[in-house]
Amino acid sequence: MSSEYGFETNAIHAGQEPDPTTGAVVPPIYQVSTYKQDSVGGARGGHDYARSINPTRTALEECLAALENGHRGFAFASGMASIDTVFRTLLKPGDHIVMPNDAYGGTYRLIKRILEPWGIEHTPVPLGDIAKVQEAIIPGRTQLLWIETPTNPLLGIADIAALSTLARDNGILVGVDNTFASPYLQQPLSLGADVVVHSTTKYLGGHSDVVGGAAVVKDPELGERLYFHQNAMGAVGGPFDSWLVMRGIKTLAVRMERHCDNAERIVELLQSHSRVRHIFYPGLKTHVHHAIATKQMRRYGGMVSFQIEGGEAAAQDVCNRTKVFTLGESLGGVESLIEHPAAMTHASVAGSLLEVPNDLVRLSVGIESIDDLVSDLKQALG
Ligand SMILES: Cc1ncc(COP(=O)(O)O)c(C=O)c1O
Repeated sequence: MSSEYGFETNAIHAGQEPDPTTGAVVPPIYQVSTYKQDSVGGARGGHDYARSINPTRTALEECLAALENGHRGFAFASGMASIDTVFRTLLKPGDHIVMPNDAYGGTYRLIKRILEPWGIEHTPVPLGDIAKVQEAIIPGRTQLLWIETPTNPLLGIADIAALSTLARDNGILVGVDNTFASPYLQQPLSLGADVVVHSTTKYLGGHSDVVGGAAVVKDPELGERLYFHQNAMGAVGGPFDSWLVMRGIKTLAVRMERHCDNAERIVELLQSHSRVRHIFYPGLKTHVHHAIATKQMRRYGGMVSFQIEGGEAAAQDVCNRTKVFTLGESLGGVESLIEHPAAMTHASVAGSLLEVPNDLVRLSVGIESIDDLVSDLKQALG
């Protein structure tokens, strides 16, 4: 399975040939830590130890590579583990990274509280402003331009192709956190990026039953380096978790279409509501980077944020009043979630450049009956 097949075909089959012994159409969960070797140095197919290689994880990794149009995929124990492994593969003390000024709070915490004391500097910039990105690059020291698009939670959009060209001209690599879009809506490697990461906890897993991460690269040499770090650092995805993510991926395309349909209807409701001050959704023509989103995304996704009249108390009140939208962190599952980023997912960036407005509500629009979602949000808004 590869580029000769369509996205949906790869999502179901890539890396997942029927089991040669039994014909089972779903790869088994190889819940194992070690393998019998036929002689010293005679590991079958290189299977020596399960941190280094596990057939269930390999199946997922091949599928991820196919979906992102990459050369090689890697599965990790969480999205943060994948980001950490990519950072420590590409950066060393003394280096500098340019990052979005509204990145996921956990990514910022990793950069600020772990990489910075370790000697890696960063500059947060609005990635929509290419001139500012160029200004932030320190010749000889900047090694990585980190992109998140759409961003969490303000749904900011960065032009992956334009930023990749700029990075290439400056001799630096580009990494993209593609969690919010999923590979169904956007494929950063095809737009010029060098590495793409996911929290597979979100849309790829899709059922809020697993925590996982992924990275995919297009350059074989970078793949070797990342494999070395994945194995040396050891934050690999477990076999059952890998299996769950693989199962989720099989329906990614149909789920994403429904997430997008439902999100568009929720945006219509919000547009018509007098208490809603500002809606953050890249599908809106009024979104400052709507044209870029249209250029690089198939559709605009299932995440919607909005600000509400009445400040923090009003935002928290809406979050407390929904019945079908579940109050909770995370996103990308089949069930709709609502949260107050300032007090929940983004509490770790309070007081920093990345602080989010306290009247902001974030929705992960699920795939339930849209009429139920609309009436639930209507009653919560009052
Ligand atoms: C955009 C983005 N990247 C990375 C992560 C981290 O993923 P995980 O929670 O699987 O470690 C998250 C989690 O919310 C996220 O939203």
